[in-house]
Amino acid sequence: MRVLILNGSPSGENSITLQTMHYIQKFYPKQEYHELHVGQKIRMFETDFSKAAEELKAAELVVFCYPVYTFLAPAQLHRFIELMKESGIDFRGKYATQVTTSKHFYDVTAHEYVRENAEDMGFTVIRGLSADMEDLLHPKGQKEARAFFRHVLWSIKYDRGELSKVTAEIDQGKKIAIVADVAEGNEVLPKMIEEFQAASEAEVTVVNIREFPFAGGCLGCFHCAADGTCIYKDRFDEFLREKIQVADACVYAFTIKDHSMGQRFKLFDDRQFCNGHRTVTMGKPVGYLIDGDYGKEPNLRTLIEARAQVGGNYFAGAVAWTDTVQAHGMTEQYEVKAGEDGTADVAMAGKAGTKGQSEGNVKVEIRRLAAELSYCMRHRYNQPADFYGVGGMKIFRDLIYQMQGMMREDHRFYKEHGFYDFPQKRMGTILGMYLVGAMMNNPKLSKKIGGNMTKGMLMPYQSVIDKAKPRK
Ligand SMILES: Cc1cc2nc3c(=O)[nH]c(=O)nc-3n(C[C@H](O)[C@H](O)[C@H](O)COP(=O)(O)O)c2cc1C
Repeated sequence: MRVLILNGSPSGENSITLQTMHYIQKFYPKQEYHELHVGQKIRMFETDFSKAAEELKAAELVVFCYPVYTFLAPAQLHRFIELMKESGIDFRGKYATQVTTSKHFYDVTAHEYVRENAEDMGFTVIRGLSADMEDLLHPKGQKEARAFFRHVLWSIKYDRGELSKVTAEIDQGKKIAIVADVAEGNEVLPKMIEEFQAASEAEVTVVNIREFPFAGGCLGCFHCAADGTCIYKDRFDEFLREKIQVADACVYAFTIKDHSMGQRFKLFDDRQFCNGHRTVTMGKPVGYLIDGDYGKEPNLRTLIEARAQVGGNYFAGAVAWTDTVQAHGMTEQYEVKAGEDGTADVAMAGKAGTKGQSEGNVKVEIRRLAAELSYCMRHRYNQPADFYGVGGMKIFRDLIYQMQGMMREDHRFYKEHGFYDFPQKRMGTILGMYLVGAMMNNPKLSKKIGGNMTKGMLMPYQSVIDKAKPRK
């Protein structure tokens, strides 16, 4: 496959972000890689776009590779995207993904910006990788980079129908819990759930939280914080552990109500407080089946992304049935739209990676979600936390630390998982930065170092790439 890397960093060859793509290339050498330094050479592309146009037309996968700059991408990449749009090139049938490095400060808005624009241009967008700028220097980050690209290649193969059933869908002994809030008389969610069950090879159990005899909503009494038990005796703790925690993946199904997932689902979320600030599905992939116009609910979309991040879950996608407002008989609607002409109106969670278009087929998208979850369970696929996850965790970290005397279970859990990453004990880095600062403040030295600064910063990355040993 022909892969075009659009390097949006003004540092060109010396970009830290670009090193992640160079590392990936060592592990996936069968693809044909091309690179354009669009960030550094934007003036050239403004004068003459022909070389870029040629490369873009020939590419099957375009990788937007850039540093996060002030909530978004560098202005140079914004300009290149303008030029791409003005070029009139038809990008339909091509795939796009993105790789960034940053400190995760508003990386989410940058990724969303590139995703939206790639979708405008007709690309099929695959969820990108948001790495910390130091990730590539550590085994965990290296593994995440490899896993990311493996998932990209899998997604393309799946989309092109190139996978055999065995590799696409088999899940021996895997369990998926569908946590549903299905109101009496709702015909949409049961149909979507049924489709999902038919599409998945895993053991799928459905838990309808409407049927759980909740004694009430969380009272904020902190009884659970003191002795680990809830003041209510409705056995919700056991329910969480026995029905939901045992699953390898979770699918949440609800109807959009008043721009949220509805009060019943909210009650379910609040009551999980009894498990402390630890979600019961930590590390597992999650997906959503949504009855309602999800594409028009930006706050709910943010919330769902953040909910996955804070839970340490990989967000595998959301399939939304958008016709319910008008729908009286879901079955007829379903059969007419998805059965006969196959053009049901589906809003995919674009951020999740796959289609992101509002036209499609409910059955196809549900099957895609089932396959994605299957892939994630089999490969234990997850990604580095983004702004929602990293930032959210730092707030909770500080809170739990201060409240450790009372929130004993949380405190133990946070210690165990290394969430207390303060005070910053990285004396080597701190001293190194003092040294760099002193050199930069010295005009003579600073002049001498000149452009070699970024080159010097690249040395450890280069060493990781040189030493990388792909398995034969
Ligand atoms: C002008 C500028 C703005 C930046 N804005 C952000 C930001 O909003 N969030 C963040 O986490 N990092 C930010 N950074 C840090 C870069 O994203 C980070 O250093 C990146 O790894 C540089 O990659 P590169 O070498 O590929 O250019 C910014 C850096 C610069 C120079």
